[in-house]
Amino acid sequence: MTTLSSAGPPAGPSAGPAGGPASGTRHQWLGVIEEYRDLLDLPTDIAAITLREGGTPLVHSEWLSGLTRGEVWLKVEGDNPTCSFKDRGMTTAISVAVHSGARAVVCASTGNTSASMSAYAAKAGVTPIVLVPEGKIAAGKMAQAIMHGARVIMVRGNFDDCLTLARELSERYPVALVNSVNPDRLQGQKTAAFEIVDLLGDAPDVHLLPVGNAGNIAAYWLGWQEYAALGRASQVPVIRGFQAEGAAPLVLGHPVAEPETVATAIRIGNPASWALAVAARDGSGGRFAAVSDAQILAAQSELARRDGVFVEPASATGVAGLLAELTAGESYAAQRVVITVTGHGLKDTATALSSREPVGADPTQVIDRDVEQAAVAAGLHG
Ligand code: F0G
Repeated sequence: MTTLSSAGPPAGPSAGPAGGPASGTRHQWLGVIEEYRDLLDLPTDIAAITLREGGTPLVHSEWLSGLTRGEVWLKVEGDNPTCSFKDRGMTTAISVAVHSGARAVVCASTGNTSASMSAYAAKAGVTPIVLVPEGKIAAGKMAQAIMHGARVIMVRGNFDDCLTLARELSERYPVALVNSVNPDRLQGQKTAAFEIVDLLGDAPDVHLLPVGNAGNIAAYWLGWQEYAALGRASQVPVIRGFQAEGAAPLVLGHPVAEPETVATAIRIGNPASWALAVAARDGSGGRFAAVSDAQILAAQSELARRDGVFVEPASATGVAGLLAELTAGESYAAQRVVITVTGHGLKDTATALSSREPVGADPTQVIDRDVEQAAVAAGLHG
């Protein structure tokens, strides 16, 4: 009879040579490098530093499909390991940085990049250094960076100032810059487009997403084009990128010196990937448009209540854009639409709760241990 000690450890997350399970019979999603290695422009045979990012759900929205009389899907990127799409590009950027001998990595961030970089740096055993605008980072994101052991530097300035500093640090000191100006980031991030096509069988007609520093729209555009060139998709989607009204440089056509929005993740006045964003818009026949903070918060709230998907404010910007366009008379009828919702709502509960529209009675009540009181509070009485 086999004893426990001779049977060895139970099948667990320890990886085999190809990143697969060392034992066990179930296949675990391997992370975007192993799942799409042949399609990524990375050093051959590079070791993947992964937290099994990607493979996120594509959730059908009955609500938005009904409103548009089309087919609307949500790419739910909050289901990544650090709860935003940033993990896709961070597995590639950190893997390449470590491959090149980096001992420390740096980024400027509105919160999610710093959370993601810190986690992957921890996994890789290198030092994470993050530069963030003082007082403008959601608490959940700050907690992530701190818990993963980052040196968190708060800058009296905005994201654009932080990015300038991060670039300068990486030029003068031995530290690798992993903002999306680093092309290795886009290699990982483009896999979101691949996944959508692999699940739907083709590229959608229209793709909507929030745009801040513009790395994500650039990466999607790369992914859509590559899959079309390979014959895996018959078309590329029309891309519509949405920005917050107070931080809408791409809509205005010039940088914004003092960007301001409740959607702190996209509070950016001078996107680093400006030219790539314009190429995505023009190449796909798309456009940029702005939505107000009120529209963003209303979309966030409705998405949570109607579709069961709780996203952070910035992540609701694409949904807010769709709703605004419908109101303006734009038709999405019979169109297959994908909206990327970029990060999880739990990262910023303070904004979510403070902006929530009161719906009927106060949802939180305190009662004694009494079933009648519970029934009244629950609205079940009479
Ligand atoms: N949505 C969320 C939740 C984000 O965190 C970001 C960017 C975006 C959308 C916009 O994506 O910059 O590629 O156009 N966050 C960066 C950060 C700037 O530092 O976390 P983008």
